[in-house]
Amino acid sequence: MPGFAVIKKKISPYNKKIFVDGDKSISIRWALLASQAIGRSIASNLPNSEDINSTIDCLKKLGIKIIKKNNVCEIFGNGLNGFNYKKNITINAGNSGTCGRLILGLLVASKKKIKLEGDKSLSSRDFSRVTSPLERFGAKFFPINRKNLPISILGSNFTRPINYLENIGSAQCKSSIMLAALNAPGKTIIKAKKSRNHTELLFKNLKIPMKIKKDKNYDFIEIEGKKNFKSFDYKIPGDISSSSFFIVLTLISKNSQLTIKNVNVNSTRIGSINILNKMGAGIKIINKKKYKGEIIGDIFVKSKKKLKSINCPSSLNSSAIDEFLIIFLVASKAKGISYFKKISELNKKESPRLKIASKILNKMGIKTKLRSDSIKIYGNPNLKLSKKILIKNFMKDHRVFMMSVIAALSFGGEWKIYNKSCINTSFPSFIKIAKKLGAKIN
Ligand code: S3P
Repeated sequence: MPGFAVIKKKISPYNKKIFVDGDKSISIRWALLASQAIGRSIASNLPNSEDINSTIDCLKKLGIKIIKKNNVCEIFGNGLNGFNYKKNITINAGNSGTCGRLILGLLVASKKKIKLEGDKSLSSRDFSRVTSPLERFGAKFFPINRKNLPISILGSNFTRPINYLENIGSAQCKSSIMLAALNAPGKTIIKAKKSRNHTELLFKNLKIPMKIKKDKNYDFIEIEGKKNFKSFDYKIPGDISSSSFFIVLTLISKNSQLTIKNVNVNSTRIGSINILNKMGAGIKIINKKKYKGEIIGDIFVKSKKKLKSINCPSSLNSSAIDEFLIIFLVASKAKGISYFKKISELNKKESPRLKIASKILNKMGIKTKLRSDSIKIYGNPNLKLSKKILIKNFMKDHRVFMMSVIAALSFGGEWKIYNKSCINTSFPSFIKIAKKLGAKIN
C-alpha cells in the first residue's frame, strides 16, 4: 500500500448500513484483565489493530498463553500476577498510551525488572502521571525521575494500597491505578474526575470487590485487592470513536444517511453525539440494549444543511476526548464561531492534536484562534475547497489522518495525505468502509 492517500473528489450521496471495528478501550481492558483471570477467556470481534496487537504481544512476552485467529482471541490466565517471564525482558506498547499506562498498573508486584518501550510518539508522552502514583504502591521505576519511555519497572513483594486523586479526567490514569489495586492487600481508594468507566464495569462484572459513589464531578472508587477472579468471555461492540468519522462524513456531506450497527454507546463515551446534537445534528441512537453493564445501540445520522456553532461545555470534554478533531470539522461548516475550552489534554495525545487541527483548518481556509488550552473556530456554512492541500508531519497520528480524509471527502479540493498505514493503529477497516460508502481514495 502506498504511503499516502490522494483524494480529488467529494463523496456522492449514499444511504448505507455499516459496522465499524471493535472498541479499542474495551478490547485492551478485556485482554489485560483476562490475563489476570483464572482460566480461559475468549473475545470475539477483537479489532486486528496495532494497539490491540501490541497489548497481546506484551502479555505474551510476560508469559501469558494467547491464541488469536482473525478477530477471535483466547487468553489463558493464571490468576493475579500470574506472569512468568525471563530476567530483563522488554515489552513494547507501540503507539498505545492505553496499553503502556494500564500494563504498568498490572506490574506493581512483578518480581523481575521489566523494560517498557514504545514508538516515537508514545516515547514523547508523559508517563509520570502513572509512575508517580504507582510508586506509592511500592513499585520502583528506572531511571529514577524519568518521565518518558523507555522506563523499567520493578514491582514490590510488599505492595500497599493507596489513596489517589485523579484530577485530569484521564481514564488511563484511573484504570492504571485500579489495575494496581488488584495486587495490593486492603483498600485502594480513588477519587477520580469523570472519565470513561469501562474498567469499573468490567470489575463489577468480574465481581471484584469494589464500591463506587458518585457526585456531580467525581467518582469515589474503593477496591479491595488480592482477590482472584474467573475467566470471562466478551463480544466486543463497535467503537464510537471510529464511528465518529463516518457520523461526521454523513452529517456534513450532501443527501446521505447512515446507520452504524452495534456500537458501544456508554454515556461516558458519547460526548461527541451530545456535542453534535447541540449543534443541530439530530443523531439518533436506536435499538439500545445492555451488555455486561455497557449500552450497545445502532447510530442513525442524516446529512444536515444547517448546523449551528457551539460554546462547548467543558463538562463534555472527557466523554468526547478522542472525537474533537472530527467535531472541529463540523464547527468549520457551522454558522457562527464555535468555542472549545479547557482542552489542553488534546496536545498530549498521539500528536499535539489541538495545534495540528488548527493548522489543518487554516489550510482549509477556516480562521481559528488557538490558545494552549482552547480554540475558537470561525465556521463557514458555504465552505467549498478547490485548492491543493498537503497533510504530512503529524507524527503518524491515526486520528489526524482520518480527520483529513473526511475533510477531503466532504469539502472537496485535491488532498494528498501522508502516512496512510497509521489507520492500522486503531481502525484498520477505515479506508475499506469509506470506499464502501462510495469514496474515491487512491
Ligand atoms: C483511553 C482514554 C483516553 C483516550 C484514549 C483511550 C482509555 O486517554 O484518549 O484514546 O481507553 O482509557 P486519557 O485517559 O489519557 O484521556
